[in-house]
This record gives sequence, structure tokens and C-alpha cells, in this order.
Amino acid sequence: MYAQMVETGLKNVRSAADMGAEELAFQARIDAGIKIEAKDWMPDAYRKTLVRQISQHAHSEIVGQLPEGNWVTRAPTLKRKSILLAKIQDEAGHGLYLYSAAETLGVSRDELLAALHSGKAKYSSIFNYPTLSWADMGAIGWLVDGSAIINQIPLCRCSYGPYARAMIRVCKEESFHARQGYDIMMSLCQGSAAQKAMAQDALNRWWWPSLMMFGPSDAESVNSAQSAQWRIKLFSNDELRQRMVDQTVPQIEYLGLSVPDPDLKFNAETGHYEFGAIDWAEFHNVLKGNGPCNRERLQTRVKAYEDGAWFRDALLAYADKHADVKAAA
Ligand code: 3HC
Repeated sequence: MYAQMVETGLKNVRSAADMGAEELAFQARIDAGIKIEAKDWMPDAYRKTLVRQISQHAHSEIVGQLPEGNWVTRAPTLKRKSILLAKIQDEAGHGLYLYSAAETLGVSRDELLAALHSGKAKYSSIFNYPTLSWADMGAIGWLVDGSAIINQIPLCRCSYGPYARAMIRVCKEESFHARQGYDIMMSLCQGSAAQKAMAQDALNRWWWPSLMMFGPSDAESVNSAQSAQWRIKLFSNDELRQRMVDQTVPQIEYLGLSVPDPDLKFNAETGHYEFGAIDWAEFHNVLKGNGPCNRERLQTRVKAYEDGAWFRDALLAYADKHADVKAAA
């Protein structure tokens, strides 16, 4: 993968000629599959890339709770409500794991949250779309968490120890998320014609944004080649996107729904589905902050942080008071 990306002109990759002895030894550890730990020497650029990716991953988990939170009070049964609540609670935990993994790189939680709240740091584009029906809870669990699993399983083997280890538990919980989402879609597709139509409408709205979750095409990706050399990225954006399409189309057919892509066709030679062009203008527009829900999502996160200031102050006051008491003892 990495060689093909360098060929496509993604030249922003460190070459051995650029590296000093420490960096050559660092790269040799990476190439040998030895995990890099927080206390190990690492190039500033490696640290910076990890802070960028891990913190944006954490932001995605936290912001990702908002679209689903919209349906907790309107879940059709107590069972569905408790499953949805459990899933949303899991996402909060994933965010905390990932913020903790990012903090091992020497950044503070406050710095990371300030970058999110100021709009400087990204979170996944997928969470800037509205959830218009209960079927969206199914489509998100099945397609969004399903895509997240495809992207996160390789991260369990990435070169940075704290990130790889955080991913192991996250992926186990994501599998439950994806299963419960597909279960919602199955119930709707086995229900009335109106329920099946609701499921198709949700698939139509979430299909293409889910493909965009994997990032720009390999030719457009500015970070992939270097992240591949550092074994942060074990597969390219397009490889994982293709995996998602190949895995999901048979599931769509099983539901009796149709893929909202007139150009989709199975290529018996390659064994893969070929699919239509992604609307990259939409993708970049959402990344610029012009998606349907960008402003609402960020405002909600900033308000939650500001509303929680009294609680953080109380914790710090308590910790200071007890630190004095402890010191005096
Ligand atoms: N949404 C927002 N920004 C995106 C994006 C997306 N879907 N895809 C790419 N980008 C951004 C990248 O962050 C990068 O911008 P930056 O340099 O300012 O950070 C730029 O677009 C170019 O993309 P690249 O492919 O060059 O960047 P990466 O090498 O970082 O690859 C990525 C992007 C594949 C998302 C990678 O960062 C990654 O694997 N991240 C970890 C997984 C993750 O964050 N998943 C998000 C969803 S989490 C989730 O769904 C939770 C689940 O519980 C529901």
C-alpha cells in the first residue's frame, strides 16, 4: 500500500537520507513491528500525527453521541431505549480512552477540547448529518459503527502502544453497536411496507456519508503515505472503503433493500463491487463546517463544557483541599 501511495506522488514521506541515527533506529523498530511506548524517543512529527489522529478520533466518539441522543426519548420500546442508552454510554467511554491515549503524548485534555471547541480540530464528517427517523438508529449502528470497525480493527495493530491497546476494547464494543443497528434494520424490513420504506430512506441518506468516513481517495490523502510508513495506517483509505462496500452490499440484499448507487456492479474478476463516484465536494464542504448539523453539534459540545465548569471547579477545589490536608498529615 505505502509503495503505491508514494508512487502516486505523495512525497511527504521521510526518507532514510533525511533521518539521523535516533530516527533510523526508531523506524527500524516500527519496521520490526515493535510497539512504540509513551516513554520511548519518537520524532516530533510522529507525535504530532498521533495527537492529531487520536484526538480527532476521540472528538468523533464524543460528538457521535449527539445524533443518537436525539432518539433516546423516542425509542419504540423500553428494550430499544436501553440498548441505545448502552451504546451511547459506550461511545463516551471510547472518547475517554482515546483522550487518555492522546494525553500519553504530552498534551492536556483541556488543550484537546479547546481545539475541538474552537473548530481547529476535526471530528468525523459523518456526525454532521441529522437523524430524521428511528431507522437512522439502525443505519448508524450498522453502517457507521460497521465502518468504524473496519477502520479500527487494523488500528489494534498500529505502532503506537497506547492507541493500539485502547482500540482492542473499543472494537469489541463496536461489534455490539453494529449488531444492534442491523437488528433494528431487520425488524423494520420484516415489518410493514411503511417501516421497510423508512429503512430504505435511512440507507439512502447514510450510505454515501458512510463511505466518506474512510477519508479522501488515496491520491488525495495528504497523511496516508507517512502514516503508512509509521505503521499508524496499515491499509489505505480506499482499501478500507472497498472492504466496507464488499461487506455491506450482501447485507443490503439480504434485507431486501437497494443500494442507492446506480453504478454499483459486482466484478467477478476482482471479486469486488465497483461503485459510483463519491461527491467529494460534499465531503470537503462538510469538513469546512457547512454540513447540515456542524454548527448545532459544536454549539452543543461547547454548551455542555461550559455548563460543566462548576463541576470541574468543585473537583479541583476538593483535590486542592485534600492535597493540603494530606501534605499537613
Ligand atoms: N471526517 C473528518 N475529517 C476527515 C475525514 C472524515 N471522515 N476523513 C479525513 N479527514 C481529514 C483528516 O483528518 C485530514 O485532515 P487533518 O490533516 O487536518 O487531520 C484530511 O481530512 C486528509 O485526510 P487523510 O486521509 O490524509 O488523513 P488521515 O491519514 O488522518 O486519515 C482517517 C483520515 C482515516 C479518518 C484517520 O484519521 C483515521 O483512521 N482516524 C481514526 C479513526 C477515526 O477517527 N474514525 C472516525 C469515526 S469514529 C466513530 O465512528 C466512532 C464510532 O463509535 C461510531
